[in-house]
Parts: sequence; C-alpha cells; structure tokens
Amino acid sequence: MATTYSVEHSAAQEIEQLRQQVLRLQKLSQIGLLTSSITHEFNNLLTTIINFAKLGLQADSEAERRDALQRILKAGQRGSTICNSLLGLLRQETVRREMTDLVALVEEVLTLVEKDLQRHQIRLEKDYQGRPRAPVVVGQIQQLLLNLITNARQAMPRGGRLRITVRENPETDMVEIAVHDTGVGIAADKLRLIFEPFYTTKSADEREPSGTGLGLTICRQIIEAHQGRIRVESLVGRGTTFTVKLPRRSSLGNPSAIAGAESGAN
Ligand SMILES: Nc1ncnc2c1ncn2[C@@H]1O[C@H](COP(=O)(O)OP(=O)(O)O)[C@@H](O)[C@H]1O
Ligand SMILES: [Mg+2]
Repeated sequence: MATTYSVEHSAAQEIEQLRQQVLRLQKLSQIGLLTSSITHEFNNLLTTIINFAKLGLQADSEAERRDALQRILKAGQRGSTICNSLLGLLRQETVRREMTDLVALVEEVLTLVEKDLQRHQIRLEKDYQGRPRAPVVVGQIQQLLLNLITNARQAMPRGGRLRITVRENPETDMVEIAVHDTGVGIAADKLRLIFEPFYTTKSADEREPSGTGLGLTICRQIIEAHQGRIRVESLVGRGTTFTVKLPRRSSLGNPSAIAGAESGAN
C-alpha cells in the first residue's frame, strides 16, 4: 500500500530554516575562535581570586583583608561581565527589533574579544560620539560585529591597530559603526567577491581553522534585514574599513529575520 506523506513545510520555509541554522552555526564558529583566550582569562581571574582569598585569610590587619576582598570582588565582577556577554551572544535568536544603545552593544562584544586582540598584539581604539540608539535585532548585530572584528584581527597577523567608531549621521538619519584595521587590505578587484558565499582567502594553519567564507555573506544579510548599508574601503598593505549604517527609525513594522534580497548592501 502506498504511503502518503503530508508536506508540512513549503520549500521556502525549509530554506528559511536552513538559513537560520547557518546563522547560528556561523556564530558558534566565531565564538569558538575566542574560546582559548576566554578560557585563559577565566583561569587568570580564578588565580587572582584564589591567591587573594589565601592572602585575606592570613591577613593581620583589617586594611589588608579589605584590600584582598576588594580584589576578589573585582575579579569576580569581571568574570560575571564576561559570562553575561557570552550568554548574550549565545542567547536564543529572537528576530524582534529593540531600540538599542549601540555603544553598549559594541562594548559587550569588545568584552569578549579584547583579550584575543591583546594576545595578537592588536591595540584597540574606541571612538564613540554620543550614545546613538537604533531599532536592531541585538543578537544579529553582535554577530555582525564579531565577524568584522574577527576578520580585522585575522588581517593583522603581525599585530596592528583596530579602531571602532560609533556615531550618528544626522544627514542620513543613520547610525554608523566603523571597524577599521591596519591589516593586509583587500585588492580592488577582490572587493566585489568578499560578500559572495564561500569566498575565502584563509587556509588552515596550526593556530586557526580555515575560513568558511560565510562571515561577510551573513553580515550582508543581517544588514539587509535591517534596511541598512555596508561599505568597504581598503588599501592593500595599509588596512581596511568596514562601515555599517543602520537606520535610526524602522520603516517596517515587523521585519523578517533574514531577508534574501540582493539589494541594500553596497
Ligand atoms: N578586514 C579585512 N582585511 C582584509 N581582508 C578581509 C577583511 N575582511 C574580509 N576580508 C577578505 O574577505 C574574505 C571573506 O571574508 P568572510 O566572508 O568573513 O570569510 P572568512 O573570514 O571565513 O574567510 C576573507 O577571506 C578575506 O580575504
Ligand atoms: Mg570571516
């Protein structure tokens, strides 16, 4: 007897589900690159806590004991901040946009990457102009920034400078987040390829797995879903700047998660 299967999902729904899955997996792979430096940092924090707890227990004076407790508190608070940032990044994806303080969002991502940057001899510079807010899907913009920062770090194998700028552009009514590096740069004829799925110039070595070529594709989709823009400027041997522009007001009531349209990014 023939069995009939009811088709519960349309092809479009399945594609959308796969898209969401790729988004989640790509985020996990980016977080994976940070695991080693975050673990090191936790180890250092625990060493601080253990040593000052011992010192505090042996302390003769009240002042010494207080000092030890203060240091334990500080290390504990730092650990808690890192945990919260990590949980924020891993949090189940919602696709709801919320009015968000973008400097606070950038800071949360930087909490997770700063030790990794230090380890690679990269100096971090921040330039925040005001406290711009925009309606964004928090998890997606975090992922976008993580992708851009990881790319910047990987473009500076011998160290360098990474500058993050957040500012409001009153003329366009957009918030602009720029990630600038002093890395290897991108040749002009490659600029149009970098947003293509699976385009990568990174092969595996002893320190890092090979690239997937999905980071910028996902960045582009996230920006399109926010009706934003992304712009790249690069000079070979000098460095690269990616500027993300996000509208300060949403034009759509309830945006879909990841739009498949090809417009928007340029
Ligand atoms: N900041 C950057 N500096 C130099 N090249 C970059 C930078 N960001 C991206 N690229 C280039 O774009 C390619 C695609 O990036 P991406 O989509 O994130 O994939 P992946 O990082 O896995 O290679 C990279 O392999 C690299 O050649
Ligand atoms: Mg990448």
